[in-house]
Amino acid sequence: MTANEPLGPYRVIAAADPAGPVPAAGQFFMLSAGERWGGGEGGRPFLPRAFSMLRREGDELRFMLEDVGPGTNRLATLEPGDGLLVVGPLGAGFTPGDTRRALLVGGGVGVPPLCCLQDELLAHRVETTALVGFRSATHAAAATLLRDPRVATDDGSIGHHGLVTELLERELDGAGGSERTVFACGPPAMLEAVRRLCVERALPAQLALESGMACGFGACFGCVVSLRAGGYVRLCVDGPVLDAHVLAEVPAH
Ligand SMILES: Cc1cc2nc3c(=O)[nH]c(=O)nc-3n(C[C@H](O)[C@H](O)[C@H](O)COP(=O)(O)OP(=O)(O)OC[C@H]3O[C@@H](n4cnc5c(N)ncnc54)[C@H](O)[C@@H]3O)c2cc1C
Ligand code: FES
Repeated sequence: MTANEPLGPYRVIAAADPAGPVPAAGQFFMLSAGERWGGGEGGRPFLPRAFSMLRREGDELRFMLEDVGPGTNRLATLEPGDGLLVVGPLGAGFTPGDTRRALLVGGGVGVPPLCCLQDELLAHRVETTALVGFRSATHAAAATLLRDPRVATDDGSIGHHGLVTELLERELDGAGGSERTVFACGPPAMLEAVRRLCVERALPAQLALESGMACGFGACFGCVVSLRAGGYVRLCVDGPVLDAHVLAEVPAH
């Protein structure tokens, strides 16, 4: 671990990765602390936890995390110089293809993969609009990771008072809405609303889903989601980014 900084209620942590492959936006890594990773004396260690890449800057990988439980708490309290085990890049990320106008839609800890996607799109001169939703103004500190974001908050303390999907609906029904490709990451209810809005309008949309992940490389089948056409995919190898149109719904956790 080379850095651990606060960003509102979140932490942005960095790890040196000089020899690793360059990850695609939307790919993820399994992280674990080098020491004191669960269990205590005689106890069992935790499994590694999954995190989307926020950015690769030089030889460093950056991640943004929220302390929601024992694993994220341990990672959030690591200090520069402490051991951090990094496995990845894993999974299938976003595929922007020849997108000309991109709508990025994020919520909470769903913002990180949209940041590296926006960097990539801007580098290819693709027009991007970023819409992001948070619980409050404090959480909306993470919006500063994006270029020109439009913010919604649940409590109205900054930006639009309401859901980010209300901003999305307006955008899709406004001028040029039908030319957009949507890229989204966030909580299941948000992603399900994005999916429905895009399917109703027959718009292309890619959703970065989350699920509990025990292994991260296809071995445990703990991350399966069902498809509209029948059958299942494993999110850690076939996703986490899936085409919205292959899903009958975004599963709740
Ligand atoms: C592909 C992928 C990318 C992710 N990217 C990020 C990221 O960039 N930043 C970030 O903060 N988190 C991210 N997560 C979620 C992160 O992996 C979980 O928050 C973490 O595993 C929780 O571990 P814990 O031990 O702290 O808490 P746990 O005790 O394991 O869980 C704490 C709470 O979080 C819920 N939870 C656990 N895992 C998940 C999950 N995967 N999705 C949703 N809720 C969960 C539990 O139900 C529980 O309520 C990602 C998950 C996946 C699968
Ligand atoms: S997390 Fe084990 S198969 Fe996907």
